[in-house]
Amino acid sequence: MLTQRIQAVQPSSTLRITALAKQLKAQGKQVVNLAAGEPDFDTPEPIKQAAIRAIQEGFTKYTPTTGLPELKSAIAARLAKDRGVTFKPEQVAVTCGAKQALFNILQVLVQSGDEVLVPSPYWVSYPEMIRLAGAVPVEVRTEPGQGFQLDLERLKRAVTPRTRCMILNSPSNPTGAILREGCLREAARFLLERGLWVISDEIYSRLVYDAGGSPSVAKVEPALSERTVIVDGVSKAYAMTGWRIGYMAGPPEVVEAAGRLQDHSTSNPASISQRAAVAALTMDQAPVDRMVEEFRRRRDFLVERLAKIPRISFFKPEGAFYCFIDISATGLGSTAFVERLLEEAWVALIPGAGFGWDTHVRASFAAGIEELREGLDRLEKFVRAL
Ligand SMILES: Cc1ncc(COP(=O)(O)O)c(C=O)c1O
Repeated sequence: MLTQRIQAVQPSSTLRITALAKQLKAQGKQVVNLAAGEPDFDTPEPIKQAAIRAIQEGFTKYTPTTGLPELKSAIAARLAKDRGVTFKPEQVAVTCGAKQALFNILQVLVQSGDEVLVPSPYWVSYPEMIRLAGAVPVEVRTEPGQGFQLDLERLKRAVTPRTRCMILNSPSNPTGAILREGCLREAARFLLERGLWVISDEIYSRLVYDAGGSPSVAKVEPALSERTVIVDGVSKAYAMTGWRIGYMAGPPEVVEAAGRLQDHSTSNPASISQRAAVAALTMDQAPVDRMVEEFRRRRDFLVERLAKIPRISFFKPEGAFYCFIDISATGLGSTAFVERLLEEAWVALIPGAGFGWDTHVRASFAAGIEELREGLDRLEKFVRAL
């Protein structure tokens, strides 16, 4: 009855855990939620005020499908300032979250029979979006011991005549790793030589905790920029996940084609959210700096505390707000580990299986220090008792 297209799509692996956590909460259990995929901060006030003004001024109608000209200009200005990459406003398309940007780019770049390279561990939605475009995801494994950098030899081995493009995600969900300039340059040169496209998901690029930041592949290897589409958005950097504003920036023909797809699907992202996004991108960026500072404090607290727990190891996150923890020494698979931790200690994490790694679990530090402390105390007790 249902199409093959949708039957090939896996249900979200996190839904089961979220449902179980909700059920326990409803029973009055004090669940510590370290599973969140969004900042726990409130959206900064100037952004909210811009949205309120938009409503009061009656700015509540359709806008151009791929966004307001002033929003595209604000995006181009931020890309130049923050990422050091130059795009004309017409090379930018605004979407309903970064998710829609990724989905639309894949729809216009790949088709049946194509292969798409995905470094693993990967964000859960990439393989499903690739399959929805009729193509096949091909994993390129990275290693914690190498800081989850791309391995050129593995990359070379993964490429076939059917390979069409590669997705990069730095800083990464779920590892928090940042791809170094040298690694990016080496990979970019190889991809360029093979005539491949790059989709660079930079949604966490503002959330970085150490010197050096998170370089953009389009900046590192400008020659590849003609075949690179950058994806970003306001969700994570401005605590605006519910507003649904993301964007892509890339070669005009790709951006125009993605816009045509959007014309016949969702049309424009909400007019009010677009006004809010203009405010976010053009305001004094101090609220972002404050959030980054707080995330850094939590990251430092988390890694210090995790280091004291036996039988687990982890990669110290350099960006985003996730820590990927190796639980293989406990003898449990990631789903069993997460389910037992939730049922026995009421702490919610995300199983690594959904990211392609059943040996790991993902902890989010988009939670206050006290919540982290309580969650880690319980995690330690749980692991010691295993
Ligand atoms: C790596 C990655 N890309 C894209 C997204 C989607 O962001 P948005 O909420 O803007 O659609 C997420 C959200 O979790 C993410 O982790």
